[in-house]
Amino acid sequence: MEFRLQSLWCLALLHTTSCYAALLPIKQSILNGCRSIPGDYNWPSDAVWSSFNSTLGGKLVATTPLASVCHDSPSGAYDAEKCDALRSNWFAPETHIDSSSSIMAPFFTNNSCDPFFPRNASCSLGNYVSYAVNASCASDFQKAIALIRHHNIRLVIRNTGHDYNGKSTGAGALAIWTYHMKDIDLVDYKSPGYTGLAIKMGAGVSVIESYRFSHEHGFANSGGDCPTVGVVGGWAQGGGGHGPAVSKFGVGADQALEWEVVTATGELLIANQTQNQDLFWALSGGGGGTYGVVSSMTMRVYPDLKSSAANMTFAYSKHTADAFWDVVRTFYTSLPSLTASGCFAIWAVSSDGFTLYPANCPGLSENETRALLSPVLSKLKQHDIPYDSFITEFDSFLPSYEAYNLAAPKNVSNSPPLASRLVPRATLDQNLTQLTSVFREMQSRGVTLVSTAVNISQQGFAADQTSVDPARRNAAFSAIFATAYDQTDYETNIARANEMTYQLLPKLERLIPADQQRAYMNEGDFQEPKFQEVFYGVNYGRLLGIKDRYDPEQIFYALTGVGSDRWYEDQARGGRLCPAGK
Ligand SMILES: Cc1cc2nc3c(=O)[nH]c(=O)nc-3n(C[C@H](O)[C@H](O)[C@H](O)COP(=O)(O)OP(=O)(O)OC[C@H]3O[C@@H](n4cnc5c(N)ncnc54)[C@H](O)[C@@H]3O)c2cc1C
Ligand SMILES: *[C@@H]1O[C@H](CO)[C@@H](O)[C@H](O)[C@H]1NC(C)=O
Ligand SMILES: *[C@@H]1O[C@H](CO)[C@@H](O)[C@H](O)[C@H]1NC(C)=O
Ligand SMILES: *[C@@H]1O[C@H](CO)[C@@H](O)[C@H](O)[C@H]1NC(C)=O
Ligand SMILES: *[C@@H]1O[C@H](CO)[C@@H](O)[C@H](O)[C@H]1NC(C)=O
Ligand SMILES: *[C@@H]1O[C@H](CO)[C@@H](O)[C@H](O)[C@H]1NC(C)=O
Ligand SMILES: *[C@@H]1O[C@H](CO)[C@@H](O)[C@H](O)[C@H]1NC(C)=O
Ligand SMILES: *[C@@H]1O[C@H](CO)[C@@H](O)[C@H](O)[C@H]1NC(C)=O
Ligand SMILES: *[C@@H]1O[C@H](CO)[C@@H](O)[C@H](O)[C@H]1NC(C)=O
Ligand SMILES: *[C@@H]1O[C@H](CO)[C@@H](O)[C@H](O)[C@H]1NC(C)=O
Ligand SMILES: *[C@@H]1O[C@H](CO)[C@@H](O)[C@H](O)[C@H]1NC(C)=O
Repeated sequence: MEFRLQSLWCLALLHTTSCYAALLPIKQSILNGCRSIPGDYNWPSDAVWSSFNSTLGGKLVATTPLASVCHDSPSGAYDAEKCDALRSNWFAPETHIDSSSSIMAPFFTNNSCDPFFPRNASCSLGNYVSYAVNASCASDFQKAIALIRHHNIRLVIRNTGHDYNGKSTGAGALAIWTYHMKDIDLVDYKSPGYTGLAIKMGAGVSVIESYRFSHEHGFANSGGDCPTVGVVGGWAQGGGGHGPAVSKFGVGADQALEWEVVTATGELLIANQTQNQDLFWALSGGGGGTYGVVSSMTMRVYPDLKSSAANMTFAYSKHTADAFWDVVRTFYTSLPSLTASGCFAIWAVSSDGFTLYPANCPGLSENETRALLSPVLSKLKQHDIPYDSFITEFDSFLPSYEAYNLAAPKNVSNSPPLASRLVPRATLDQNLTQLTSVFREMQSRGVTLVSTAVNISQQGFAADQTSVDPARRNAAFSAIFATAYDQTDYETNIARANEMTYQLLPKLERLIPADQQRAYMNEGDFQEPKFQEVFYGVNYGRLLGIKDRYDPEQIFYALTGVGSDRWYEDQARGGRLCPAGK
């Protein structure tokens, strides 16, 4: 009782001083259920970390922020050569993937250790995890879960660090880092719904690794556009997962036959359509980092097939703006037939112009793909707009992907907070003129519009077999708005994020019926006011029930994840995760 009183006093002090670190260590109970962070009473001692490391066979990594080489800090000394090298590689995904702590979405690092800041700027862990378990098997997950439960530490699941909403980082957290779990095998899978060969993939297998493996065995599979995104983590679990073969084979979550997963109690479960069906359903689309730590996914494969791909680019100039937008409008009207024919498209519209980078059409010949794009090519000729377009046919999927999807350099770490909406097919059909004028206004305000189109209702998958929001299956395309990211001024980025959420995106929302406001959660707004409905649609309540059944103590948290509104990061208390309202 005495301790409790004293602790409450300490808590009161927390609200009145910024010098919380100087306070006596705090026991968990007075933190009202907040997670512990370094410096707290029950944060593990060095000896505990060291023995934990021994039980893991040395797989514990203490975080040294990548950019510590650009500053003088407790994490290390300035090293001009290493800092220059880091700066020149900062925008490549590999730089962050190879680290146990770095992430690609710069907004969520809060510039706590930034390579572009001057040498004398501070370098602290900020929102980076404190430690990571470089996992190689499910028992590593179990050991990590036991430790975080015992010490009331925040847990983060980290695979590649691609997540745009910083879901794979967190202040004072221990990360389970899955990226090195690269096992991949062809298995014979027999179930009432699927009989045949399938690929069983460890949690760290990337998109390009899955395509190459399938190709070597005469198959093709559904996967992302970006080669370095993980298949098993955020991509397949997060609302579907789109990419070059998705209109042909189906969205990522539809491919799941079985998940191996360690739950919050440390149990290793197999979830499929006859065993732990509710967990199977939730993992197949209900969001990464929420229900358990997946160690493997078994997914469908398909016989390899001839594939064509196309790209296109034409410039924007103010004096030909009307003609430019007439062509772009024609491109929008071509989308339904393109995606219904099995094609995927990713394109950008900015003040520089239009780029299709690319369209992938597995199963189609070069002429078939050209025919689908011919209305756009004709419009370009009609308006006499110079353009570049390439269309090529390959005898299998992998070379088409390698030639077209790896051509454009993938620049990460310059991505601002995004905001997006799935545009329903009926909205495209009925409100195209208004849509085009909103997009045109966005372009004039310096917003880059990045969009992707797939058709995920034609592969014969029952909508209730996965937790992918059924409304997503009626979407003609996903429209993402992106502003520029300011590498040095964090306040500017906050202002831009707010403008996006409260002023720009509502212009698009107005053109979509109120009960059909949806976004792809992996490319959505981190501060989406109605994220439950917008990211999860009608499935939110059922997903929350499943989460509570498997994770009653809420050890899994990811921003905008199911149940995440019960928590917040308390910046006044070191960024620790605290129950909402406390
Ligand atoms: C450059 C770039 C290109 C992209 N291209 C595409 C694309 O073509 N198609 C597309 O659909 N999306 C794309 N995305 C979005 C991508 O799908 C998401 O960022 C996704 O969250 C990445 O998953 P990850 O596992 O690779 O990343 P991470 O950031 O490591 O993890 C993402 C989320 O999944 C959770 N998670 C990871 N592994 C596991 C696991 N084993 N068990 C449970 N939870 C786990 C994490 O906790 C986190 O919440 C792209 C993103 C970027 C930055
Ligand atoms: C864990 O042990 C390995 C091998 O002994 C060592 O290299 C690593 O630095 C240790 N990790 C921590 C956080 O001490
Ligand atoms: C870093 O150095 C610059 C110039 O030498 C100075 O203006 C700035 O105040 C310093 N910043 C910090 C955080 O010490
Ligand atoms: C993580 O483990 C893999 C082996 O699974 C090893 O190759 C890699 O170097 C390790 N990375 C770090 C940072 O410890
Ligand atoms: C689910 O997994 C269990 C255990 O491996 C297996 O016995 C069962 O056949 C699987 N069900 C399906 C539908 O594959
Ligand atoms: C289009 O494809 C061609 C041929 O593969 C390639 O040379 C070119 O760089 C690509 N253009 C874009 C904008 O991706
Ligand atoms: C593709 O179209 C061109 C021009 O219309 C035609 O000459 C050619 O024979 C077609 N190729 C195939 C394989 O049909
Ligand atoms: C990536 O983006 C940054 C910031 O916008 C820019 O400075 C850099 O030149 C880009 N790099 C590449 C390879 O496009
Ligand atoms: C078209 O836009 C109007 C607003 O102008 C909106 O009320 C309506 O719901 C939209 N229709 C469709 C089918 O999206
Ligand atoms: C997807 O294709 C099917 C036909 O294959 C069509 O009925 C459906 O309307 C298409 N969906 C969208 C969103 O265009
Ligand atoms: C960012 O860091 C500053 C301290 O440099 C802190 O005051 C602020 O609360 C942090 N914000 C977030 C969102 O992490």
